[in-house]
Amino acid sequence: MLIDPVCAAPEVTLADNPEIAGLALDGRELTIDWRFGGTDRFNLFWLRDNCPGPETGDKWTAVRRFSLAQIDETLSARRLSVDAAGRLAVEWSTGGAVSHYEPAWLKAMSPARRRARTFEADCTLWDGSWAEWPAVDFAAVEAGMTGHADLLEAVARYGFALVEGVPAAPEGTERLAAKVGYIRENDFGRVFDIVSEPDVWDLSQSDSALDPHTDDPYRYNPPGISFLHCLEASGEGGGASILVDGFKVCAALKQADPAAFQLLAETPVEFVRRRLDPVPQGADVHLVARAPVIALDSDGRQIGFRFHERSIGCLAVDPDRMDALYRALIALTKLVTDPAFAKRRQLAPGQALVFDNQRVMHGRTGFEGAPGRRWMRITQTDRDQFHSRLRLLRARLGRPGADAPLPAGAFFG
Ligand SMILES: [Fe+2]
Repeated sequence: MLIDPVCAAPEVTLADNPEIAGLALDGRELTIDWRFGGTDRFNLFWLRDNCPGPETGDKWTAVRRFSLAQIDETLSARRLSVDAAGRLAVEWSTGGAVSHYEPAWLKAMSPARRRARTFEADCTLWDGSWAEWPAVDFAAVEAGMTGHADLLEAVARYGFALVEGVPAAPEGTERLAAKVGYIRENDFGRVFDIVSEPDVWDLSQSDSALDPHTDDPYRYNPPGISFLHCLEASGEGGGASILVDGFKVCAALKQADPAAFQLLAETPVEFVRRRLDPVPQGADVHLVARAPVIALDSDGRQIGFRFHERSIGCLAVDPDRMDALYRALIALTKLVTDPAFAKRRQLAPGQALVFDNQRVMHGRTGFEGAPGRRWMRITQTDRDQFHSRLRLLRARLGRPGADAPLPAGAFFG
């Protein structure tokens, strides 16, 4: 006679312990009733898959000696026991293996608790009424983990940081970027010098004003973190840097017109950069990415933003959506260029802005006829390395949030 092992009641032994007040197995789900508040639900497949110990190897570094293919689909628990310290032991119905779990680990890794933890609590949205500039000193950033972490924390929370005391020389740009990630080279080169020139092949080389935008939305994965480093300032005649929090702008759009917000999250927009001769060798490109302006995670939280009005191509969306899409893009553009959202600052030589290019837009005021030469350098790194370093520094400094989720950005595959 076949017995469905899922239905067989396990033997439960619950020692007097400071952690677990009760265990209940319902089908393939184990519920733990914690002595000091709350319950957590663990699927048996999940527990078997995440069984710690030498038998399975270290899952986190991918040195793994256990395969999902080894799990019997009729898996159940034969015995459940909790020892005097609150450690859970599960004897499996197949193979006789026993898995042991520390209560602190179960609480920390509980799927429901991890899902309830969002990055929004660590993210402060802002607009032009916010007078502060989160600033860090470059000497502190290079001196040790605390200053280094302070820079990364500011970029994670506000989407940008002002760094002071960066050498006002070309090598300062790469030294700063190296504290965040690996420089990502592209058709602009490794580091791009933004100096007003007579023969312009990119609008940034002119002395014109630039509306707020994220860089390179026409790439499948746009630059993650950008570094704008001032070597020479144009004086008081213009050339101030502008920052706009794209997440704040989108929140305002969502409040004013939820349907427009949703449309911009669901509808891929074609972003294009076609730059042909005459341009410097290697700078000729024809880049195309079809991606929504607003990137949401599976729970509807905004995790990325890409928008550069001048890079929007000839839209080819469903004709039934075209009118509404244009209305949404027009509404968004009005918000993006609304001075109420903008922070503005004339960077001085030795100052740099580090900003999350998949959240915060940058731009500048024009500087036609300004007294001095304006020389900025810009480079970029990916955001996954930035997040990796932030997690490591939080863990090493004992700061909270080493395992907290972080927004993945405007990537769209
Ligand atoms: Fe730009």
